[in-house]
Amino acid sequence: MIINAIELTNFRNYAGAAVSFDPAANIVTGRNGQGKTNLLEAIYLMSLGKSFRTLKDEEMIRFGEDFFRIAGSFTKGGEALAVEIRESRREKKFILDGAEHRRYADLAGHVYTVIFSPEDLRIVKENPDKRRKFMDRELFFLKPLYYVELVRYRKALRNRNAVLREPNPNEDLLSIYEEQLAESGARVMRERAAFTEKLDARARETQENITSGAERLTVAYDAGVGFVADEQEQARLIREALAQSREKDIRNRITSTGPHKDDLKICANGIDLRKYGSQGQHRTAALSLKLAELSLIKEETGEDAILLLDDVLSELDEDRQKQLISSFESNQLFISTAELTDNLLRHLPAGKTHCVSEGRIV
Ligand SMILES: Nc1ncnc2c1ncn2[C@@H]1O[C@H](COP(=O)(O)OP(=O)(O)OP(=O)(O)O)[C@@H](O)[C@H]1O
Ligand SMILES: [Mg+2]
Repeated sequence: MIINAIELTNFRNYAGAAVSFDPAANIVTGRNGQGKTNLLEAIYLMSLGKSFRTLKDEEMIRFGEDFFRIAGSFTKGGEALAVEIRESRREKKFILDGAEHRRYADLAGHVYTVIFSPEDLRIVKENPDKRRKFMDRELFFLKPLYYVELVRYRKALRNRNAVLREPNPNEDLLSIYEEQLAESGARVMRERAAFTEKLDARARETQENITSGAERLTVAYDAGVGFVADEQEQARLIREALAQSREKDIRNRITSTGPHKDDLKICANGIDLRKYGSQGQHRTAALSLKLAELSLIKEETGEDAILLLDDVLSELDEDRQKQLISSFESNQLFISTAELTDNLLRHLPAGKTHCVSEGRIV
């Protein structure tokens, strides 16, 4: 799929901007702090409804204003798709082909983007929540119903934690929420496990290519409560884990076990990269994961995701830059960079260059 054009109103440092894009490659350039990442963020926002930079939506409203609006026109499967987000401090609306929605679940599965930024290069060694987010984001694209289940799980988790913070936690209430956690949690885990299995196969291939067969990458689902294929049995495992940790959780006033603690275990030649990997190995594995993400989206949806490379090429050596650029001939590409080096220009496909200066695009 491709994005043909975007309009921004009061979004970050853009008071009003409209720009049309190249179907193949778009280079976004300009000095630091001019709005390059902001533009990529706006594109990303139309796929997930959430930013990759902030949890506070308000931060995206231009200083001194009280709303923002972004509108994108896409082509997907040969058809036009219009996505618009309007957000004020009070409400947020998603408008898909003219129809208004308010739930994230309604936005799920429409626009596919893959972002690759310097933070993503650290996904292998970061805390587990980064890798959980990675799984959740992918499943948002691939399995819109997953998100509904995840929201249920999170709600039950918030409720259980609220009870745990009371002076005398009501154990009957805890049991009710534990039952909800077990049911939703088992479904969340089933999807995560299936996703990881597919990701593992793709990532192994990409890693073999990047390292010329020297490193065998494995990605395994690392669930604290233990994963089993049977959903009833899985629910029982979660229920038991929660019951077992209840006393401790009451003491610490927080739910210590369950799928909200899940992780991915990423190994090269059997060695846990998070603990023992070198910086180069972390980067290569992160690159493999990203490329695997692209190929998985293609395989499951038939669509090429829009690829957003935010300032990341300059952090990769020439070989890895080539690997990255040569592996997505069919994806529409956005590359932001403050410096257009000769080296970079040599590898980039032909496209359009957008110069950004103080929230204006020329
Ligand atoms: N809500 C907002 N209202 C107005 N301006 C904002 C808002 N949020 C961020 N900005 C401005 O946007 C600019 C940063 O934009 P952005 O992150 O896109 O820069 P960049 O071009 O990617 O820079 P770099 O090359 O350093 O990554 C800053 O000048 C910041 O003050
Ligand atoms: Mg930037």
